[in-house]
Amino acid sequence: MRTKIVAGNWKMNLTFEQADDLVNEILDYLKDNPTENGVIVCPPACYLELASDLAFESEMFVGAQNISQHASGAYTGEISAAMLLSMDVNYAIIGHSERRKYFGESNEMLAAKVDQALKHEISPIFCCGEQLAERQQGNHFDVVKNQLQESVFHLDKVDFGNLIIAYEPVWAIGTGENATPEQAQEMHSYIRSLIRDKYNEEVAENTTILYGGSCNPKNAKELFANPDVDGGLIGGASLKSDDFIKIIEAL
Ligand code: PGA
Repeated sequence: MRTKIVAGNWKMNLTFEQADDLVNEILDYLKDNPTENGVIVCPPACYLELASDLAFESEMFVGAQNISQHASGAYTGEISAAMLLSMDVNYAIIGHSERRKYFGESNEMLAAKVDQALKHEISPIFCCGEQLAERQQGNHFDVVKNQLQESVFHLDKVDFGNLIIAYEPVWAIGTGENATPEQAQEMHSYIRSLIRDKYNEEVAENTTILYGGSCNPKNAKELFANPDVDGGLIGGASLKSDDFIKIIEAL
């Protein structure tokens, strides 16, 4: 059985104090409301240690928003997988559309990041998704297939089993215009069929596929009700504990 997950991508937001408060509010909630589902927060890198210290022995996991494709050395400003692991960071968002767009991350570079993460027992939350024009031209399935083929389908079955996929249509990120539950289900079931073809039925059934893009307390339940939508990667609505908690409750 695959795990259902809600992960918060804080992006470049919040001060240290606000980050401290937000983590504590989520932890207080989880203490009173234990869950079988996965809850992950992905703060900016400078708050990872704070979050992982606070999350120690709790039900919350901590993820990074990025990871270097290099193991170590002269890469000013970068953070390696080994460094993340040494701070008890167990997940890393890889291939977010903002990293692809603003930081020129190619599918090939993302494959190297995925490899680095897995080598250090960090589970990638691998993001894929099409631009608006690509959907309008009817190319969305091919775009997502290509992203998966070039960045994660080189993995063997065992490594792939440690991967989480996040389908995030670029036109839905931060726009307030979420994919409809039908659009999400259609793409998630397509992604699962690609995994089935590449690996096997068991790997496909065990892969958690999250939806991301303007997911909020109002639409989460309807999106998560789909058989192939196993939770969400939440941006804006992960910055307030009330909203994030409502989304956890929608699983
Ligand atoms: P959003 O962002 O929920 O603010 O649309 C999602 C994401 O970028 O992961």
